Amino acid sequence: MRTIAFVTQKGGAGKSTLASCIAVAARRAGERVFIIDMDPLQCLVKWSNANNNSDVPVEHVPTAKLSKALAALEKKGVTLVVIDAPGDNSEFATAAIRAADLCIIPARPNVFDLWGSEVTRANVKNHGKDHVFLLNQCPPAQQNARVEQGAKALQAMGALLAPLVSARVDYQEAARLGLGVTELNPDGVAAQEMRELWSSVKRRLKKGAPAAKIEPMAAAKAGVKPMAMGAQQNAKPTAKAEAKPMARAAATKRAA
Ligand SMILES: Nc1ncnc2c1ncn2[C@@H]1O[C@H](COP(=O)(O)OP(=O)(O)O)[C@@H](O)[C@H]1O
Ligand SMILES: [Mg+2]
Repeated sequence: MRTIAFVTQKGGAGKSTLASCIAVAARRAGERVFIIDMDPLQCLVKWSNANNNSDVPVEHVPTAKLSKALAALEKKGVTLVVIDAPGDNSEFATAAIRAADLCIIPARPNVFDLWGSEVTRANVKNHGKDHVFLLNQCPPAQQNARVEQGAKALQAMGALLAPLVSARVDYQEAARLGLGVTELNPDGVAAQEMRELWSSVKRRLKKGAPAAKIEPMAAAKAGVKPMAMGAQQNAKPTAKAEAKPMARAAATKRAA
């Protein structure tokens, strides 16, 4: 059994949306999936209640019972646990990080989310956990410097999962109906994104290897220019102006 946790202290980055959609995509790909909703708001418990036919169970588990719950799930033959964490640094978020084999840190392509990612990454690293970044809510069809800079900044901090996830109505509709996007509209682009994302996560879990690089298709969809893409793939911490404020934040943290 493997456990992935969607964590970032920044609210609204897409933890619950992506946790639910990837859980459903993984289920369709043959995993036995269980979602643990560690957020006291229990959004995914409510999401699950909207769909009586779901074969992806969801439960809110108090932090004190998490280890026991995980052991019980493993015994039952669950192969993948997806944890949705709250957007803060509470005991719930910490418990989620501690329980995870892999922490997935989603961020939208804006500087506030990127700064939030930096803080979360430091926290995850302090717990000695593997982590990857994920860029969510990218504008679907236009060239966009924000996306390009966001991807570069995240790659300068660590691995960035492919594909970039676009902002699409399907994600919001699926949430409303208690579905994953792969159930709502299996032939849609969002569904394809989630299938690809699950494949990337699975590879990372299996090998602990660097996440897949951004593929031309995915990058084009997200509006990243081919030239810039090359730069992202080779991005080193020199990734420049846009990474600077975060580097400063890291330095401050280290000094603290
Ligand atoms: N890829 C996406 N496309 C469109 N809307 C999205 C996407 N990801 C998240 N959202 C929307 O953004 C909002 C915040 O997402 P949510 O998953 O609740 O974030 P978090 O759990 O990190 O606070 C929700 O209204 C959700 O529907
Ligand atoms: Mg949430």
